Amino acid sequence: MAENTMRAVSQDEPGGPEVLKIVETARPEPGAGEVLVRVHAAGINPTDWKTRQRGRFSDGSTPPFTLGFDVSGVVEAVGYGVALFQPGDEVFGMPRFPHPAGAYAEYVTAPTRHFAPKPPSLDHVHAAALPLAALTAWQALVDTADVRPGERVLIHAAAGGVGHLAVQIAKARGAYVIGTARAAKHGFLRDLGADELVDYTEQDFAEAVRDVDVVLEAIGGDYPARSVRTLKPGTGRLVSILPMDGPVPGAEDRGVRAGFVLVEPDCHALREIAALVEDGRLKVRVQETFPLEKAADAHAAGETGRTAGKIVLTVA
Ligand SMILES: NC(=O)c1ccc[n+]([C@@H]2O[C@H](COP(=O)([O-])OP(=O)(O)OC[C@H]3O[C@@H](n4cnc5c(N)ncnc54)[C@H](OP(=O)(O)O)[C@@H]3O)[C@@H](O)[C@H]2O)c1
Repeated sequence: MAENTMRAVSQDEPGGPEVLKIVETARPEPGAGEVLVRVHAAGINPTDWKTRQRGRFSDGSTPPFTLGFDVSGVVEAVGYGVALFQPGDEVFGMPRFPHPAGAYAEYVTAPTRHFAPKPPSLDHVHAAALPLAALTAWQALVDTADVRPGERVLIHAAAGGVGHLAVQIAKARGAYVIGTARAAKHGFLRDLGADELVDYTEQDFAEAVRDVDVVLEAIGGDYPARSVRTLKPGTGRLVSILPMDGPVPGAEDRGVRAGFVLVEPDCHALREIAALVEDGRLKVRVQETFPLEKAADAHAAGETGRTAGKIVLTVA
């Protein structure tokens, strides 16, 4: 392969996993304030397969494009004015979200501050599993809900990519954590520190759970309205990571706040997340890895919606 080219996963049209193809394309160049990162591993997220199916990023970008936001890799070169990193530094991050980042590729460029130093104790596969899911959990629970010690936090889809990290971030804040997941995943979640678990296939969580301070909502449909019924009147907060159609029924009557949060690149939160990892208080579970050229299989596995933890592409 020529020196200035690279392998990437590209799609020309909306569709199923089969539209994802390996192509040879131009290697990007870092602009002013940007780093060029050699990607060692790229995490997969539901937003990737939703974008693939729609054939459009939420910023309006249309095919051909390369999916992927989660990167762990090594700085290959730096652009004009960059002092934060130098070639050889190991970094991880969620560059450019929600604009295309092109992480399913051998190289990405991005603004320097969309990356942070990779947690030294993690390999690239585990570091690539963290950024988008952990930033989402952090920005929902810490920045938005401001979870306090002793508060009761209900986390939906607790075994998923976001959920299993949210359980641990809430525990690290000193909260009492209740999660929803099917029974087969309860052992996994107890090991991560969950205090109480509801098998949503057997029990209506809205009947089983009471006096909650904060709900992290990740399912959609009637979940926001049902979750509001579990919140403490007057002080409860519901943070949804799925868009909601207008006000949540029941929220105003109960005097609780409910809102949607879209994750953002944030190197400071990434450093806090890395510190939790190094303290042994945040573990990321990688359910399965696939090589870059098997991105279609990785999407098919993720789209089952049954993942415990994350799926990651190995690149370098
Ligand atoms: N707003 C944002 O910025 C943002 C950021 C990240 C993610 N998201 C969105 O948040 C959602 C979750 O993301 P993710 O990465 O965590 O997804 P994921 O890893 O694919 O979630 C899979 C998990 O969902 C669980 N699940 C499915 N239905 C459930 C239900 N009714 N109750 C409880 N658990 C259920 C499954 O557990 P079981 O096998 O036990 O069902 C599985 O463990 C996605 O829709 C994603 O697009 C939004």
